[in-house]
Amino acid sequence: MHIIKICMGSSCRQNFAEENLAMAEKTLGIKAGETSADGKFRLEKTGCLSHCEDGPNVFFSSQNGPLSLVMTDGKVENNMLPHHFEKKLNALAKYAT
Ligand code: FES
Repeated sequence: MHIIKICMGSSCRQNFAEENLAMAEKTLGIKAGETSADGKFRLEKTGCLSHCEDGPNVFFSSQNGPLSLVMTDGKVENNMLPHHFEKKLNALAKYAT
């Protein structure tokens, strides 16, 4: 399972967090707090990840091992502007097992 946590802290919220959440919900076909029917993805909102100056931020983790070309397992991904985040999510959706 790949867990995607979108920071909804005040700084990231002022910096595309809402757009990122809406795009992730659409791309993955699930709402925040849900797991996809195939069990591959879980989407969550999270509070401040303590990287405010580099937002918007998203935390990825994977219980199936890292997809190193797409994301870094267990790392806060900084500067996840919607167009960049969308590319990562599409690649993740394509290659995730
Ligand atoms: S508000 Fe997102 S890292 Fe602090």
